[in-house]
This record gives sequence, structure tokens and C-alpha cells, in this order.
Amino acid sequence: MIFSPENYFQDQIIKSEVKMSPTFQYKVIVAGDGGVGKTTLILKYTEKRFRESYIPTIGVQWTIKELEYQGSSIKMVLWDIAGQEEFKSMRTNFYDGSNAAIIVFDVTDLISFDHVENWLREVQQYCGKIPFILLGNKIDLTEERKVPLEMLKSIALRLDIPYFETSAKTGESVIDMFNAVLERIRQYEPVIEDTFVKPLEVDQKLNINLNDELILLEELIKNNEKIRVINNELKIITNELFRQNPYHEKLEEMSKWRLEKLNLYPEDSSLSSLDKSDFLKKIGSWKIVLNS
Ligand code: GTP
Ligand code: MG
Repeated sequence: MIFSPENYFQDQIIKSEVKMSPTFQYKVIVAGDGGVGKTTLILKYTEKRFRESYIPTIGVQWTIKELEYQGSSIKMVLWDIAGQEEFKSMRTNFYDGSNAAIIVFDVTDLISFDHVENWLREVQQYCGKIPFILLGNKIDLTEERKVPLEMLKSIALRLDIPYFETSAKTGESVIDMFNAVLERIRQYEPVIEDTFVKPLEVDQKLNINLNDELILLEELIKNNEKIRVINNELKIITNELFRQNPYHEKLEEMSKWRLEKLNLYPEDSSLSSLDKSDFLKKIGSWKIVLNS
């Protein structure tokens, strides 16, 4: 089926209206050092399976978990942020607009634990006051455990955030932990006023960023005859933007332009992951500008 921009926008408009009601879609950041098990946890939660091999995440990846919660339909968009050092500068583009953050470390790896406060600071800097969960993963590796539970409890108390322990391998406490995240989000009121931007500023800044984006896309198109992007990812991003910015019309125009340029098809991922992360990085910076 060929994807048509008209359908896309109808779909987006309906979705953005749904999202105007006291939000049923939440963005949850999953952050922490490389190798602590963020991607594996999400996989366990959403697909009930465990991946033995370590394939570092490039940039960022999204997974949607749909569930019913206290009579509401919930879409949790899990933003799996690459923990490897080389993605440090890129990842700050993805924090904006989050409803909660899970800071993960590996209970068998003291260094990952030492970095928890850095992660907290970084996410707080971009997300402000949102619910945080501190999470120790890999508790199935009891023999190799380095960070004692007692110490963790006192640190969680000092930082004033709830502490959970999971095993993405056995699945222990994985659902409980994500339910706790949801619970915490529901206790918070979304702050919409913060994202207000004056129309003139939006116009000026959009122009700059559209040009940047155009240059990038043209480069990509040159190198790849059939350039396509996973439609679903763009939908998520556009939804995020709709939710955060009152200038829906402007954003729709931008999305339409991008769709025409890219000749999008659904469920296609022929962009290489590096090209994709470059592209998403661009969209990230564009989003930051809109909200700054
Ligand atoms: P980056 O994408 O680089 O940031 O790493 P990540 O945090 O996403 O790590 P990933 O989920 O890829 O997991 C790293 C390795 O740890 C993989 O080999 C997983 O199989 C393993 N792993 C993850 N969670 C657990 C767990 O709970 N127990 C055990 N035994 N292994 C785990
Ligand atoms: Mg990963």
C-alpha cells in the first residue's frame, strides 16, 4: 500500500485531538550506561522475550506499549536512549517533553552505579521536574552482585526517588516497575504553559531549521535512491510535537513538506541506522528550537 500524505494528516489530526484530552500518551525515557540492560528490559516488557547478545543501541529507539490502566487506554512511548559515550552529545536532543524517566544501572557493575547521579542531572537538566525511577537491573546474577540493596535504599532515600530492582532475563519485577512508572506519571499534572512560543519566533526559527533539514535530506537522497523512513517513528515524533506546541498548523505544514520530500511508505526502514540517527538528530534539534 502506498502511503498518502492526506491520510497521514487526517490520522495525525485525529491523534492530536485525542492527545488534547488529559493525556493518554506518555513519553518515558530509559537512560543509563551502555550495557546495563535498557533495551533488554523494554524487550522483555513489550515482547516478553530476552536477548542474550549485546547489540548497543544507536542514538535512540522507540517502542510503544499499549495498555489499559484504571479504565483508560494508555500508550507508553518508551525512548530507549543509547548509553555509550559516543552518543552523549546527540542524546540530549531526545529528552525534551518526557513524562518520566527510568535511570538504569547494572547491580553487577559499580561504574554504572557511580554514573547514576550524572544521568539524573543530565535528564533533569532537559526534562525539569518529572517523576524518576532508579532501577538496578540484572538481579538474577546474584553471585556477581556488587551494589548491596541496603546501600541502594539509603541512596534512593537521599535522592528522594523510588528504587526498583529487576531482571530483564527472568522478568522479575519488570511489569511492576513499569506500572510504578505509570502510577507516578498519573500523579503528576502535565505542564503545558512551559512550551508556549511566540508566533514570530516560531516563524523565524522554523525557516532556519527547515533549510538545515532540507540540506540533510538532499544529501541522504543523493546517496540512497529509495530513501524512506520508518513511518511510525515520524508519527511518534509528530505526535510529540503536536502535544507540546500550540502551533499545530505550522507543524502540520512542516510535516507535510517533509513527507512530500521523503516519499514515505509505511513500515519501511531502508535508511541505514546511522542515516536514521542523523535524521532523527536533526528533528530533535528542530524540536528543541521550537520549545526553547
Ligand atoms: P546500550 O544500548 O549500549 O545503551 O546498552 P543497553 O543498556 O541497552 O544494554 P542491553 O539491553 O543491550 O543489554 C546488554 C547486555 O546485558 C545484553 O547482553 C543482555 O542480554 C544483558 N542483560 C540485560 N539485562 C539483563 C539481566 O537482567 N540479566 C542478565 N543476566 N543479563 C542481562
Ligand atoms: Mg540499548
